[in-house]
Amino acid sequence: MKNKKNKKYCLGIESTAHTFGAAVVEFTEQPDEESGGKYRGIGNARILSNVRDAFSTEEGGMIPAEVADHHVRVCKDVVKRAVEEAGIKPEDINLISYSRAPGIGHTLRIGAMAARSLAIALKPEMGLVGVNHCIAHLEIGRLLTDSTDPVLLYASGANTQIIAYEGGKYRIFGETLDIGIGNFLDQFARELGLGFPGGPKVAELAEKGRRYIELPYVVKGMDLSFGGILTYVKKIINSDDFRSGRITKEDLCFSVQETVFAMLTEVSERAMAHCGKKELLLGGGVACNTRLQEMCKIMAEERNAKAFFVPNQFNIDNAAMIAWQGVLQREQTISPEEADIDPYERTDDVKVFWRI
Ligand code: ATP
Ligand code: FE2
Repeated sequence: MKNKKNKKYCLGIESTAHTFGAAVVEFTEQPDEESGGKYRGIGNARILSNVRDAFSTEEGGMIPAEVADHHVRVCKDVVKRAVEEAGIKPEDINLISYSRAPGIGHTLRIGAMAARSLAIALKPEMGLVGVNHCIAHLEIGRLLTDSTDPVLLYASGANTQIIAYEGGKYRIFGETLDIGIGNFLDQFARELGLGFPGGPKVAELAEKGRRYIELPYVVKGMDLSFGGILTYVKKIINSDDFRSGRITKEDLCFSVQETVFAMLTEVSERAMAHCGKKELLLGGGVACNTRLQEMCKIMAEERNAKAFFVPNQFNIDNAAMIAWQGVLQREQTISPEEADIDPYERTDDVKVFWRI
């Protein structure tokens, strides 16, 4: 009974882009020495629910105002389900966490508004925390795997970064110079008429591809670029070779995956060598890709290191990671009036104080 009383609950709200999510994480406050070794003063963290509703289209991409309308439509139901599935009552919630950065301004605002409204409605002393979505992708991986100090390959829609902890911050060792890998895959898929999100559809076709078509490979130092490759594949899609079937959709998808995933694996390997780290953690929606996972696993094993993956529901945008990040930053609560958003905050702008 005493134990139950010590339990606390954080409700997380995610709304940086296509997904509106709500989730509940249970935790207890513990002395550092009893907390399991990775975080300051927290023990027994459990994800009790992780509900999401993602905007999708059969054809074409996403328009920010339409996605924001989607979030407004679904937010009440998603939050209600997250609380019900967690088996708690709304008044049991001690903390509300929302993604304040980075992302699409239109959609971030809906999440911040939902968090503020809930905080005001539930109790006057409710703690409210705004967190960085990219860092949340990383920390959920540390929570759910045995990795303690990994290099993170963060491969999502809008972001592609190779990150590692050094000197109190998550530093970016390499990143895309233009679009994120997921957006690249989505735009490529759109050219092929495959709809949104495109990554999983490209992956399905790639499995049937056999022939490698030479594509540009663009790694500049530790950074990557996908814009030129996109222009190049668009040209192929509009060529006679493609129209006549000499180059098939399947072969093109296969070649695109082999090329861009090799680029990601190469830069991750160099970051691991540079930092002397023995763990690679994958995060972000594109980390669901089994071919990317396979390449990273082989690379890690070849250098006596280990690659870690989390279940897909925690790779794609999800609120469980926002709730967990809120728990880690629970001493940084703000009032509803201060609950702002920042579409452009970078991973290395945030001071990391919760690691042991
Ligand atoms: P960000 O973290 O940058 O805000 P995001 O909001 O776009 O990213 P995520 O859910 O992290 O969202 O990633 C979505 C991306 O993941 C989309 O571009 C989608 O095509 C891609 N994706 C999802 N599953 C796969 C897969 N199996 N293979 C490749 N890409 C995938
Ligand atoms: Fe994301």
